[in-house]
Amino acid sequence: MHNTRILLDRRPVGEPVPEDFRIVEEPLAPLADGELRIRGQWLSLDPYMRGRMNEGKSYVKPVELGAVMCGEVVGEVAESRHPEFAVGDLVAGDLGWQSMPTSNGTGLRKLLPGIPPAAQLSVCGMPGVTAWCGLMLIGAPKAGETVVVSAAAGAVGSVVGQIAKLKGCRVVGIAGGADKCRHVIEDLGFDACIDYKAGRLREDLKAATPNGVDIYFDNVGGEILDTVLARMNPFSRLPVCGLISQYNASEPYGLRNFRSVLVNRIKIQGFIVFDMKEHHRQAVTELAGWLAEGKLKYRESIAEGLRAAPAAFIGLLRGANLGKQLVRL
Ligand SMILES: NC(=O)c1ccc[n+]([C@@H]2O[C@H](COP(=O)([O-])OP(=O)(O)OC[C@H]3O[C@@H](n4cnc5c(N)ncnc54)[C@H](OP(=O)(O)O)[C@@H]3O)[C@@H](O)[C@H]2O)c1
Repeated sequence: MHNTRILLDRRPVGEPVPEDFRIVEEPLAPLADGELRIRGQWLSLDPYMRGRMNEGKSYVKPVELGAVMCGEVVGEVAESRHPEFAVGDLVAGDLGWQSMPTSNGTGLRKLLPGIPPAAQLSVCGMPGVTAWCGLMLIGAPKAGETVVVSAAAGAVGSVVGQIAKLKGCRVVGIAGGADKCRHVIEDLGFDACIDYKAGRLREDLKAATPNGVDIYFDNVGGEILDTVLARMNPFSRLPVCGLISQYNASEPYGLRNFRSVLVNRIKIQGFIVFDMKEHHRQAVTELAGWLAEGKLKYRESIAEGLRAAPAAFIGLLRGANLGKQLVRL
């Protein structure tokens, strides 16, 4: 038996390429007391991983060169010398891009019963909780308000829009391409979705938000943020969740419509989901409830096998995914 691991071999310049990663196979060492071994089932691929590939100061340390890429894995305990985990337990944790990780149990959680394991990495996992925290705690939606969300067909954005609909808001998504926009409206139930790649973002946004924008849940930053800023209403809220349009950029985008923040007294707040731990239980409970009631839909894009992870990750940053990007291990 071997453990396959994917290491960060080189810091990318701009868009990552497959050569930035190195795949290694290692024989499994015997477990020490207090350790357990997990047979990985699912690896979550997330945009934040791009930031971890860079050197420099951020809200967490970068992945070291030669170290295993970071990432959350769901799997089954295959072997255990740990008192709290038994063979057969389903667990999740930040175990990295590897097929048979060994853990000392730190940061490992047992999966919740009744929710599909992969969904505990998406709609009822970190992305869903991010959507809930950013929208409910910072956006604070009220029935009748207009909510706009970017990367609307993705893991976080798809949940943001559906919660906002459940709260009685008019919901407008922004996504890349006609197929994604169709999915956002027809499958997820948004009121409208704008294809930002069609080149008419300003005009289309104006048409879709006749009463202006009360909440803009920003997943992308850059030109889309700038355009939405100009449509924000007085006392609107702007949770800054992600800036994916900037992750591969060498020059940051300079906002032109920042004046709107002052004129409209917009509340802008950046947030990182792990700072909001005291709300996670409520978020997961509500998300799981809506899921069970059929009120929350989700999609998964699945890459097959750990070796497919680098290409799937590069694809995620380009928008190749619909819904949550996973790797079946
Ligand atoms: N603050 C937090 O704690 C937290 C937690 C989780 C995620 N996030 C952030 O939330 C955002 C969404 O994450 P996710 O996991 O849900 O990913 P995702 O939306 O499932 O996938 C990323 C999507 O970003 C879109 N995209 C890529 N480049 C873009 C560009 N230049 N302009 C506009 N859209 C672009 C693509 O969709 P299109 O085809 O529509 O372009 C792509 O499918 C990311 O910025 C991520 O970093 C933050």
